[in-house]
Amino acid sequence: MAPEVVDVRILVTGGTGQLGSAVVARLRAAGEEVRVLSRRVAPDVVRGDLRTGRGVDSAVAGVDVVVHCATDYLGREAQLARTLVEAARWAGGPHLVYVSVVGVDRVPLGYYRAKHETEQLIAASGLPHTIQRATQFHGLVRTLLAGAFRLPVVPVPRISFQPVDVRDVARRLAGQALEDPAGRAPDFGGPEILSAAELAQAVAEASARRRRIVPLKVPGETFRAYADGGHLAPAHREGEITFREYLAERADHG
Ligand SMILES: NC(=O)c1ccc[n+]([C@@H]2O[C@H](COP(=O)([O-])OP(=O)(O)OC[C@H]3O[C@@H](n4cnc5c(N)ncnc54)[C@H](OP(=O)(O)O)[C@@H]3O)[C@@H](O)[C@H]2O)c1
Repeated sequence: MAPEVVDVRILVTGGTGQLGSAVVARLRAAGEEVRVLSRRVAPDVVRGDLRTGRGVDSAVAGVDVVVHCATDYLGREAQLARTLVEAARWAGGPHLVYVSVVGVDRVPLGYYRAKHETEQLIAASGLPHTIQRATQFHGLVRTLLAGAFRLPVVPVPRISFQPVDVRDVARRLAGQALEDPAGRAPDFGGPEILSAAELAQAVAEASARRRRIVPLKVPGETFRAYADGGHLAPAHREGEITFREYLAERADHG
């Protein structure tokens, strides 16, 4: 008798990344069959490259849902999505769930512009889709601030963040993967909005480093957009894990 073939229903691109791996863990814990697309040779992944298109058609074949967490920091975000949309059309039109960033249409950064273009491309693709914007991840905010800790005085921009834990965003995306397409979904943000100085203070306390933290006004239109809160979602504080909780967990794990 032929072995039973289990249909893989969900493909996660970027399933090896920060957010994507949390999405994969969440879906697998819920008993879902998940396929991961990666450029790497690794156990448990389907090899493919969204930039060249290599391996993408076979990765998409037979899935009902694609959660697109892969990203390109060099301006090719839309190119990756174009390849995926084309493969998805050939594969019969699975539900495409795309994760974007709150404020991509308000903060003038090259990466954000590329994400906004990608949102528009997916919305116009004719594929059933869900576009979920999220605020900055805890890891990114910590990395941005920790860089300044090499100095005795820590300069921080006079702006606020609403950091969110990737596990909270993954919960939202995993839910959406199993629901009907929602189009542009309401934004998803972290539980607290804190100034960069307060966040830097939390980093200092978590790493037992004493530093003088100095908030600075940074010139330029990008920082003005941040200072105006273009990247925040004050009405959407659905994330549960706070920045301090995230830092404490990291300290516990060394
Ligand atoms: N970081 C934040 O604060 C933040 C906030 C809101 C939204 N987001 C969004 O969340 C998403 C995930 O971000 P992340 O921080 O989790 O990313 P990440 O950890 O940097 O991971 C990027 C992923 O993209 C994959 N990838 C890159 N180029 C690829 C290509 N050509 N073909 C196939 N896969 C490719 C990588 O897979 P391999 O290397 O294994 O191939 C990797 O898994 C992004 O869309 C980002 O814009 C991020």
